[in-house]
Amino acid sequence: MSTVKMNVEGKTIEFPSITGSESKKALDISNLRAETGYVTLDYGLKNTAVTKSSITFLNGEEGILRYRGYPIEQLAEKASFLEVAYLLIYGELPTLDELDKFTSGVTNHTLIHENMKKFFEGYPQHAHPMGVLASMTCALSSFYPESLDPNQEEKAIDQTILRLIAKTATIAAWSYKNSVGHPVMYPQNRLDYSANLLYMMFAKPTEPYEINNKVVSALNKLLILHADHEQNCSTYTTRVVGSSQASLYAAVSAGIMALWGPLHGGANQAVVEMLQKIYDDGGASKENINKWIARFKDKESGQRLMGFGHRVYKNFDPRATIIKKAADEVLDDLNVDDPLLDIAKELEFAALNDSYFIDKKLYPNVDYYSGLLYRAMGIPTDMFTVMFALGRLPGWIANWKEMVEDKQPITRPRQIYIGENKRDYMPIEGR
Ligand code: CMC
Repeated sequence: MSTVKMNVEGKTIEFPSITGSESKKALDISNLRAETGYVTLDYGLKNTAVTKSSITFLNGEEGILRYRGYPIEQLAEKASFLEVAYLLIYGELPTLDELDKFTSGVTNHTLIHENMKKFFEGYPQHAHPMGVLASMTCALSSFYPESLDPNQEEKAIDQTILRLIAKTATIAAWSYKNSVGHPVMYPQNRLDYSANLLYMMFAKPTEPYEINNKVVSALNKLLILHADHEQNCSTYTTRVVGSSQASLYAAVSAGIMALWGPLHGGANQAVVEMLQKIYDDGGASKENINKWIARFKDKESGQRLMGFGHRVYKNFDPRATIIKKAADEVLDDLNVDDPLLDIAKELEFAALNDSYFIDKKLYPNVDYYSGLLYRAMGIPTDMFTVMFALGRLPGWIANWKEMVEDKQPITRPRQIYIGENKRDYMPIEGR
């Protein structure tokens, strides 16, 4: 075993070095505090690996993303979302028989308890569907109290996994129905996952609903592209909550909450809102684009170019490349002429040729074009992050499962206390 030596206050300490797949190196500092009294400070965990994992490989310098070793480009092109979900959760691509069983397992759980339907009536109509999805996902736990223990036998865990994948799609679609004041549509088990989701969102009891296969296929691709992304904010949140042995429902619900923020999954909604503002302000003219670019570079403005930049990708985000192409194709196929797409392209061109963005290695991320694609598919803006959540669900489950099976300890980091030293209580009259 190779080690790395560190000199701390004159004492030489050796830390085991770890080499992961693809020659990624790390330093195991588990004994740092015990041997030296020091802890490390790493805001945003920018330099800290929080776990070993065999689920997703990401190389931010070269723009590589692989699920269980399979390149994202191949999966997005050839696989179905449930096939990828199985791969992430169970480690291997399913055989025909395994996929059949998994698919029918999901299909058999698409209904939610009728009492849950009443919950929707309690939400105000303008409730953001991410809040509804998170709270309803947690509420699922109250209907299956027998499945709260994360250390149950495998069969019981598998059952919870199927329930979560199936029922969150129904909850998501119904939260949209609630927001527009329409009656909910019950799942159609003859449809595949993506088609059923679109059906539950857009079909009406008053008229027949025609499935558009191009939209179904674009949704399938988007869900796959979002399915996992190693230790991002929401996945790590899922692990943190799960590490206390809270139920899978609680852990996933926390993951949904973390995804909601505009610096994470909420960016897809923020991008389209930003593009709309730019459009209203003067459209795709060079002058207007330059004005906005200047604003994004100015820290005082408090505005960032949403959909640009990534903690890990410092070259390009491979998901953005696939989504940009898909957005062009879908808009073309569906004859959608979206002026926001022109703004997005002009803005991207200007940013990619501007030294601020070049020097800071800021490139379009997955959210830059995904919102435009969702728009073309008829998905309303405040449902964008919900679609991201449904896509990311298998990744959260896979990470939770890996953590539970590895028997990892509860997450409980240290802090560096910088408050007052000990002082005595002063009675109120003396303050
Ligand atoms: N527009 C303008 N400046 C930016 C941007 C941006 N989009 N992103 C980063 N910067 C600047 C930032 O001000 C900082 O400048 P300086 O070094 O002078 O202080 C520098 O670039 C590094 O930024 P950071 O915030 O320290 O980098 P980070 O790794 O902590 O943050 C990020 C990554 C994604 C939160 C950030 O790039 C960002 O806020 N982007 C916009 C929001 C967005 O699109 N989020 C979706 C991320 S991809 C989907 C997902 O997986 O969640």
